[in-house]
This record gives sequence, structure tokens and C-alpha cells, in this order.
Amino acid sequence: MKTDKFVVVGGKKLSGKIRVSGSKNAVLPIMAASILSNREVVIHDVPSISDVMEMTKMLEILGAKVKKEGNVYTIDSSNVQPQEFSESIVRKIRASSLFMGPMLGKFGSIKVAYPGGCNIGSRPIDLHLKGFEKLNAVVVERHGYIEANGANLQGGIIYLDFPSVGATQNLVMAACLIPGDTVIKNAAREPEIVDLQNFLNSMGARIRGSGTDTIKITGVKKLGTVEHYLIPDRIEAGTHMIAAAVTGGDIVVENVITDHLVPLTSKLKDAGCQIDEGDYQVRVQGTTHIRPLDIKTLPYPGFPTDLQPQMMVLLTFAQGTSVIVENIFENRFKHVDELRRLGAEIKVEGRIAIVKGVKKLTGAFVAATDLRAASALVLAGLVSEEATVIENIHYLDRGYEDFERKYNNLGAKIIRVNNSLSS
Ligand code: EPZ
Repeated sequence: MKTDKFVVVGGKKLSGKIRVSGSKNAVLPIMAASILSNREVVIHDVPSISDVMEMTKMLEILGAKVKKEGNVYTIDSSNVQPQEFSESIVRKIRASSLFMGPMLGKFGSIKVAYPGGCNIGSRPIDLHLKGFEKLNAVVVERHGYIEANGANLQGGIIYLDFPSVGATQNLVMAACLIPGDTVIKNAAREPEIVDLQNFLNSMGARIRGSGTDTIKITGVKKLGTVEHYLIPDRIEAGTHMIAAAVTGGDIVVENVITDHLVPLTSKLKDAGCQIDEGDYQVRVQGTTHIRPLDIKTLPYPGFPTDLQPQMMVLLTFAQGTSVIVENIFENRFKHVDELRRLGAEIKVEGRIAIVKGVKKLTGAFVAATDLRAASALVLAGLVSEEATVIENIHYLDRGYEDFERKYNNLGAKIIRVNNSLSS
């Protein structure tokens, strides 16, 4: 399938203001959670990205009505019926697995094709399923499908072997309508989980502790309506901050929650950038003398894995050698080969990447392998004065709204080449 390409001609210091959209990783679980209510819910600041369009399609397959007015979505799930999720649906978008919890909690059973892997690793869901069993569901995996049946689901105590974001979200959503108390220990602490709690509690759920490693849910009989404003996308914000750093520019990133950016802010300061935090905005001034760093990705509030590829591009221009350890996904270095084609000097040993600073990169034809790798390749193109052609821009469109318009407003030169979608 041929998809859009970007032609990027770099060499400019980016400067100006850029506004962050609503969070992709908050809106996807919140859209899934909307089926728990029989009333209309309204969600503001929904980003226009393809992952949201896929989730909208999935909601409509379940029988929900979705009305989109700009960035405001109204979802009516009063006619939602149990449906099995076929492999073709599940293969298209990883976040479809976020319907497992709400469907189990609302209908007492689910049948979902096993989610395929994706380009950053196998992405299993064993922690989700073990959690469902603690809620007294019987989980069976056969013929490539997962069936979970819970004639009498009960609240329970769940310990997550790993603070999985998706497992935490699915279990919170499943437990909302289940009688009794549920406790999730070693829960993920990401801000998107706090946003999901706020959304659900506004509908009448009883959840507390999101943002810490222990979340308590007391089941209620039903959930009502809500008008919710999404948190801004901290990964989009971080991408723009790194764009300022890597081009030596001066960018004010607007619509941010600075607390969500602390791991990146401190690393950019260590690298030599000037960071000024304001009310809901952060100003980043890059430097031509980037100091090498050691980065370890960790669950929040550690350094986010979703900014690892973009940070690798910055460190490609550092004055010295940096070490990046990817602790979250077992295969999230696919962008390294593409960066090497641009002249980067990076050596990968398992989960460790050794990045030797270089003076500049040359233009070349490269291909994005996943969403954040796509944004990293664009950042690399913004530095190189020669043209860089980046294929598979559909990955970028999964998670960034209006990318080229926002960057060209900062002085970048990014041209989208539409490719007819051939079968
Ligand atoms: C969410 O994915 C995000 N996606 C990812 O962002 C993000 O990278 C990830 O959390 C970590 O922060 C959304 O929120 C839609 P996990 P999720 O479950 O929930 C293993 C982006 O670019 N694991 O925390 O799938 C898993 O294999 C995307 O916006 C199990 O072993 O992440 C991985 O190695 C990419 N068993 C690690 O845990 C399980 O049952 C983290 O996965 C579940 C997960």
C-alpha cells in the first residue's frame, strides 16, 4: 500500500509558537470507556488523528452514535450491543484492546481476536487477562480469540507484574460497574490514567488513587453523562520541545501541563537547553553545543519511551557519546537503521543504543516504522540542509494533528506528497 510521503528541507532554526492538541493516549481509553454509560457523553479537544477515526469506527460497529463537530465528540452508547472483535478490526489498531474492560464490565463477557504485534514489539495482553480473572471472569484463549465470561463478576485485588498502562486502564474500566471493591496494585501512574479516572468519576464512578501505584474502585449500578475536556498531549509537546533543541531554535509550546513534562525538561536542561516554564506553556531555546546524555526509559514518572526515538535524534548531534536504554518495549529501535541511512552513528546491543555525536546528517530516502519513529525522522530532516524524503507518513498521522502545518508555521519546510492508496 503506498501512503503519503514528506519531503523535508531542513537547516532552519525553528522559532515561534505551537499549540499542542488533546492527548491521543487519553482520548483512546476515554472513547472506549464511553460505552459504560447509557447516556450521551461529550469530549472536548479531541485531536483529528487516524487512531481517533479508527476508534470512532469501532464504536459505530458496537452500535454507538458518534457526532463530530470540530474537536468536540458526542458519543451516545445507549444502543451498544455486545459484539465480537474480529482479527481484521483488532489488527488495524492496537487500542481496540481497550474495549475489553468496558465490554466485560458492561456485558459480562467479551470475545476479541488476539491483538497482533506491532512494530515496537509483541504487545501481549497477559496482564489484562490475569486481571480479569481476579474479577472472577473465566478467560479462555482459543482459535486466535480471547473469550472472557463472567456470570458473577466480583471486585478483587489485582497485582500487576508490570505497571502496564493499558492493563491498568482496562481493569479500571471493567471494575466500575462490577459489585464490590477492586484494588489494583503496582498500577501505571501515567497522567492519561488520571484523565480517565476524572472522566469516569464525572459519570458517577467511584475511583480513587489514579496517578499513584494503588487504585481503588467501588462498583456502582450505572453511569451517567459527562462533558469532559482532555488533557493536552505530553508526547506531542515533548516532540516540539525536542524540535526546538535539535534545530537550535526558540519555540514556545502552548497548551501544556508542565508537571507532565518534568522527565524531558530536566534532560533538555542537562543537554544545555534554556527552558522557561509559564502558565500552560513552556519556552525552549536550543543550543549549538548539545551535551551527551544517558537516557533510561521507565514507566511514568520516568523518561517516556514515546520520546526515546526523538531524543535519539537530538543526541545524534551531541558533542560526545550518549547511551539510551529502552526498558519498556523489547523492540523499539527500528528507527536506528533509518537514522544510520542519514549518517547517524548508532550501535544497538539488545535494549541498549550507543549514540556517537556527528556534525551533520545527509539527506536520503528513509521509511517510518511506527508513530514516534516517524516524528523522529522528521526531526532529523529538520536539521539536514539536504532534502530528506520520509515514507509511511500514515504512521505520523496516527498520533499528530496537523503536523506539517504546525511546523511550517515555525519556519520548517515540509511538503506532503500524497500517494494514491493502491491496494
Ligand atoms: C501505552 O501502550 C501507550 N499507548 C503507548 O504509546 C506507550 O508507549 C505505552 O503505554 C507505555 O507508556 C496508548 O496509551 C494507546 P503497556 P500500552 O501496556 O498500554 C508489556 C504511542 O506512541 N505488557 O504499558 O500498550 C508490553 O509488551 C504509544 O503513543 C505485557 O507484557 O503499553 C510492553 O513491553 C506506543 N503484558 C510494556 O508492557 C501486558 O499484558 C508496556 O506496555 C501488557 C503490557
